[in-house]
Amino acid sequence: MCGNFYSQTARSDRSNNRFKDKYMHDKEKTMGGSLTEQELVDIKNKGPPYSQIKHFVETGTYKGDSTLMAAKQFENVYTIEIYQPLYLESKERAEHENIKNIEFYVGDSLECLPNICDKIKKNGAVFFIDAHISGSDSGWNNKIRVPLLEEIDIILSRPIGPSVFIVDDLRLWKTIKAFDWVHITNELLIEKIQKKGIEVFDHYEKDDRFYIYTR
Ligand SMILES: C[S@@+](CC[C@H](N)C(=O)[O-])C[C@H]1O[C@@H](n2cnc3c(N)ncnc32)[C@H](O)[C@@H]1O
Repeated sequence: MCGNFYSQTARSDRSNNRFKDKYMHDKEKTMGGSLTEQELVDIKNKGPPYSQIKHFVETGTYKGDSTLMAAKQFENVYTIEIYQPLYLESKERAEHENIKNIEFYVGDSLECLPNICDKIKKNGAVFFIDAHISGSDSGWNNKIRVPLLEEIDIILSRPIGPSVFIVDDLRLWKTIKAFDWVHITNELLIEKIQKKGIEVFDHYEKDDRFYIYTR
């Protein structure tokens, strides 16, 4: 199942404080942390073709922290969340903030990504790969706890143009070596891309994420 919905207009009957309190949660507590504006500015500062990217795709919306921030930096934001309460919560949050350039998908990233990639065509995107089993307030597809390799396979199965992959939670495969992440390595990720005949222009580790720039 994969459904998609744009954020709608703001509803005036909600108090700002209610939303502020609800979403000022401690990002470090649950996972590697949501994306910061500076991280996305750093990508733009790489210059063309990366500074011209208009699309941002996120797997694993959670509460929408990275999603809403990305909406300020990119023309089109697509985000996928499998756990419906989180999908509804983040969509409602965007509506409250009157943000209209986010397309929210509810469903398995492996089912939703083909449709999103078809929209991007060869124009390139920043892909924030962050769907995985997390805490008790989140979900998964009951088949693959960490679907990041499968997600990248789907993305690479069609021409996407110069893009940036930000693969989150580097510590889980690099240092902690969590049991459901041990099959992942930086080398494997790069190899996957190169095997498709796509040039890896740059790659580096930064702040618990692995960045890969393709051409
Ligand atoms: C680490 S959190 C995402 C954090 C978010 N990207 C941020 O920066 O704030 C992982 C999310 O992925 C979701 N998830 C897990 N498996 C998924 C799948 N196969 N498809 C879509 N979402 C999935 C979980 O429900 C959880 O909300």
